[in-house]
Amino acid sequence: MEARPQRIRASAARIGMKLANDVFSPTGSVIVNKGEVLTAHLLHKIRMHNVEHLYVILGQHSAQEEYKNINRKALNQFTQVYKKTEAQVKSSMQNICKGEEVDRDCLIDVTHQVMKSIEDPKEILKYLYATQLEESSIFTHSVNVSILSNLLGTWLNYSVEEVKELTIAALLHDIGKTTNTYDKVHDYKLHPQLGYDMLKKQGFSEAIAQAVLLHHENLDGTGFPLKVKWNDITEYARIVAIANYYDNKTTGGKTLQERPDPYKILQLLEADRFTRFDINYVNTFMSKIAHYYLNAWVRLSDGRKAQIVFINNYALASPIVEVDGELINLYSRSDLKIDQVLQ
Ligand SMILES: [Fe+2]
Ligand SMILES: [Fe+2]
Repeated sequence: MEARPQRIRASAARIGMKLANDVFSPTGSVIVNKGEVLTAHLLHKIRMHNVEHLYVILGQHSAQEEYKNINRKALNQFTQVYKKTEAQVKSSMQNICKGEEVDRDCLIDVTHQVMKSIEDPKEILKYLYATQLEESSIFTHSVNVSILSNLLGTWLNYSVEEVKELTIAALLHDIGKTTNTYDKVHDYKLHPQLGYDMLKKQGFSEAIAQAVLLHHENLDGTGFPLKVKWNDITEYARIVAIANYYDNKTTGGKTLQERPDPYKILQLLEADRFTRFDINYVNTFMSKIAHYYLNAWVRLSDGRKAQIVFINNYALASPIVEVDGELINLYSRSDLKIDQVLQ
């Protein structure tokens, strides 16, 4: 990435950032010179003078910038396939709502087309994060959840047939929201039941229909619509619940700038894994994502730059990092966490 000056709020300035311009006090005198690298002392000085904005040179890639730097041609190709599948999902869901027969193989093809449109399947999470359509819709959300569920089912060693069934369930998990009569305010908590009824009527398997019915249930009984717990929540539903949560937090309805750093999602999932989700499934999901960031450079919450050198399997969002030759186990440092993934 080319270094370029960027105007930021003084409150967003961090240790290690390089100043692109002189910083002036409100009375017009220079308090820090252009080219200086911010230290704790300089940051304190800037804040003491109530400076509102400053220009810095961003020498590191943020996760979003890294994702923006995905080969543009590859991303365009991916986006084309993705857009096409959005239209296919929309028409399939509308046909199911109208009571028309829908070919199950065509449904599965939608997810496979997107997954096969990039060279390295491991990159799919990065591409989903980077793809920005004019607006994200229930149909793109459905495609994302089906891809994430397909990956998780595969990581859990499900058979080909099971992964297929799970992928269809994930693709249709919100179909209850797509009927003409659906009212966002009054019917939201009913959409799993509406979806279940519709799919049963169309002859989908009980396993698929149950996954749709139970995808908002939490293992501690705090979900909806049935408020069931533990063993009453089927395996497919537990998987779709994690994929649904991850997609809602990362891409769902958000512009690229609004999307949280991927590590933040790991921290959120870690906090919720004992109450809402199946711990084994969350651990598998998080472990794959966490290992994807092994050796990545990150910015810590105290502003220091660090490298992830070891993943703690018992605390996946709190790895061991190296900062200037010192190893820090973030699991034993409740005051310190990862703020941002750099390149
Ligand atoms: Fe839902
Ligand atoms: Fe959903």
